[in-house]
Amino acid sequence: MRSYLFVPGDSERKIAKALDAGADALILDLEDSVAPSAKEAARAVAAQALADAASRPQRPRLYVRVNALDTTLTGADLDTVMRAGPDGIVLPKACGGRDVSHIAAMIAVREAEYGLEDGRTRILAIATETAKAVFALGTFGGASHRLTGLAWGAEDLSADLGAETNRDETGAFAQPYRLARALTLLGAAAAEVDAVDTVHTAFRDLDGLAAECRAARRDGFAGKLAIHPAQVPVINETFAPTTEEIAKARAIVEAFERDPGAGVVAIDGEMIDMPHLKRARRLLARS
Ligand code: COA
Ligand code: MG
Repeated sequence: MRSYLFVPGDSERKIAKALDAGADALILDLEDSVAPSAKEAARAVAAQALADAASRPQRPRLYVRVNALDTTLTGADLDTVMRAGPDGIVLPKACGGRDVSHIAAMIAVREAEYGLEDGRTRILAIATETAKAVFALGTFGGASHRLTGLAWGAEDLSADLGAETNRDETGAFAQPYRLARALTLLGAAAAEVDAVDTVHTAFRDLDGLAAECRAARRDGFAGKLAIHPAQVPVINETFAPTTEEIAKARAIVEAFERDPGAGVVAIDGEMIDMPHLKRARRLLARS
């Protein structure tokens, strides 16, 4: 999936708007964008939105971001929203594969209780929100078959580090956040799940967003988090492979299919071997 649009879970107005934003997935948020006093109302609004959206002929995937495991809220969040069968749960402040296994077990109990198909609910983990979590980025492999992606975040991490800002003088992410970004990419590849790039919080700056999207795609991210509907088309466009790229990937796959014994082939004067084939297959799978 290319675009994941966050929507505050207590805002019916924004949820209605987000459903038509063209995002591949929405993340109905029960965590940081919802005030403590509104948590309970947000659960009910989100669950109702999930139930209503189920009858739409076309809709984005619907994920819910629950509150972190070190709050006392996660169980009650799941109790309410799992009844409506979300496509996935976003786990904030995940600290390695252990936390993913933990929430996977909580999800499994509710799938059974509410008569949902076992294993249908996916997990996207936000995996860099504390310094401790950054050191656990290599531990997600085998944590749960539900895990489909790792996303990184710079806002909570900068708070954990006691930083004044997470950007340098040029506006680019400062070194600690670039490290977290790179380790997320490596951790996701090691766990064989999608890497998802963080939000661009300056939501009016679509040129800056496009530049971040291009860099993320170049490095291997599958998609990006969004916080505003205007960001969605930019993300979708950048992360969708072009027709030329698809044609080139097809040519590579076909060349190896024609000659299954070959380890290396030449296409348009370029040496193509196994890593190229792997990349081509992945691009076709994403398209
Ligand atoms: N989903 C759906 N609709 C959204 C939206 C979102 N994430 N962000 C903005 N909109 C809507 C607004 O409600 C407004 O609609 P309206 O004119 O019908 O009221 C329209 O899009 C234009 O919004 P705009 O005026 O440009 O922005 P804003 O000042 O209303 O909102 C934010 C700015 C940041 C508060 C808002 O984008 C937002 O809530 N984003 C999500 C925050 C979040 O979930 N954070 C947690 C993850 S980091
Ligand atoms: Mg946060």
